[in-house]
Amino acid sequence: MIQNQPTSAAEFVLILDFGGQYTQLVARRVRECHVYCEIASFDTPLEEIMARGPNALILSGGPVSFFNPDAPKCDVGIFKSGIPCLGICYGAQLMAAELGGKLTAGKSQTYTQTDLRIIDSSDIFAGLDPEQSCWISYGDVVEKTPPGFKLTARTAQLPVAAMSDPDRKLYAVQFNPESVDTPSGMDILRNFLFGQANLSGSWDMATFIETATDAIRDQVGSHKVICGVSGGIDSSCVAALVHQAIGDQLTCIFVNHGLLRLNEAEQVRRTFEDHFKIRLVYVDAEERFLRKLAGVTDPERKRKIIGEEFIRVFEEHASKIEGAKYLAQGTVYPDVIESGTKSAAVIKSHHNVGGLPEDMDLDIIEPIRQLFKDEVREVASCLGLPEDMVWRQPFPGPGLAIRVLGEVTKSRLDTLRLADSIVVDEIKAAGLYRDVWQALAILAPIRSVGVMGEQRTYADTIVLRVVTSKDAMTAEWARLPYEVLEKISDKIISEVPGVNRVVYDITPKPPATIEWE
Ligand code: XMP
Repeated sequence: MIQNQPTSAAEFVLILDFGGQYTQLVARRVRECHVYCEIASFDTPLEEIMARGPNALILSGGPVSFFNPDAPKCDVGIFKSGIPCLGICYGAQLMAAELGGKLTAGKSQTYTQTDLRIIDSSDIFAGLDPEQSCWISYGDVVEKTPPGFKLTARTAQLPVAAMSDPDRKLYAVQFNPESVDTPSGMDILRNFLFGQANLSGSWDMATFIETATDAIRDQVGSHKVICGVSGGIDSSCVAALVHQAIGDQLTCIFVNHGLLRLNEAEQVRRTFEDHFKIRLVYVDAEERFLRKLAGVTDPERKRKIIGEEFIRVFEEHASKIEGAKYLAQGTVYPDVIESGTKSAAVIKSHHNVGGLPEDMDLDIIEPIRQLFKDEVREVASCLGLPEDMVWRQPFPGPGLAIRVLGEVTKSRLDTLRLADSIVVDEIKAAGLYRDVWQALAILAPIRSVGVMGEQRTYADTIVLRVVTSKDAMTAEWARLPYEVLEKISDKIISEVPGVNRVVYDITPKPPATIEWE
């Protein structure tokens, strides 16, 4: 989980992760304060922490009791290191227990919003009214502050809701300042970062681009870099960033597998070749993919075929680029954080552009591996990528093949492409494109009877799937206005030949997934 990469900022905060569900949110909040931060495992050795030189530490929350024999513990040397440290929830309880306060075991964790009474506002509560509201989870309880600490806040249930020892630069809150349900939470974080840890808050995307391009130049030298692009935000952002750093030493490869949306291949070409003047190898592999997919109806087989074929095509073209030493990939921070904890159960085998072909001898560069998605968008925007790409909704690697249920043929793909473009255009026209996670059309393997112009029809069904979600792990079907649904349905029926019925999918995830295959 820990990143031993050079950080991309002069000042940074290290968050020790004790397994709390809000750890990523803490990181995002710190970055919203324009302070760069990274998440590291709770058991990172003190020497390693010191070697990385963070300007401040944050100890996250965690799901287990301090009294559990398997409870995660950090090196207590951090409390003597002089590095300003903020403990949140479990991090606060651990700080209290390890430094000689009194901690008692609580019952199972329950979250609630509660009143907070501030007793001392000379450090992290500076400038706040004494009566506050906070988001809190009741677990273990700090009954008494450790020697040297002062009590700074309490709640009806918690005698020590917050405490601090400004001489040692140690601060602790038994609630969640990162939550929107703690209205002054950002003020508390800012007070810690700027008031107590003396950070300047000068990290922004322009700084990121500057340091990232310098780092790419240093690492790559005069060598050549290959980057696979798909039109998605991550790979596009990486391509633009690497190009800004090393210009013509970069060659992008764009494999059009024929499973893209209407006009998408052309847009990718125009953006990279015409606008950015990036060397682009455009591979029209539509026929090759369709041949491989002929007669295949099983979703997992489709995914495997597309994934394998993609790597093969990519490899063929990459191997023709003489002297290439590096492959640039669009790995982002959530991938980095989650890669160690992903469950092994395969629900769908994902395919992503830019995955390293196994027998190719290329070193990887991952210039945006420290960024969250919204930060990637900001960087992409700063680099001049078109809005359509910056805000493009997620689109699966296997493309429309997993939305044409049953056998994938050119004509079924064309039907779906047309329906899909109507869905996207109408959702955009209704001003909902950025509010929903994904809006898509699926071509069902069903034909049904209809009537058009007094003629009986027996034609295809389009399923409309529009979902809201935070991270695609769970999703809700979007409560679209009836007028929008009506418009989409009318347009599909009148403009897409061979379709006489439109249905709306009202299943959340779980139990359904977002894609149908
Ligand atoms: P599901 O269908 O599993 O999808 O609920 C969750 C999210 O992942 C996207 N998805 C993919 N993305 N390669 C990708 O890059 C894939 O193979 C793939 N399959 C699904 C899906 O669109 C949704 O956003």
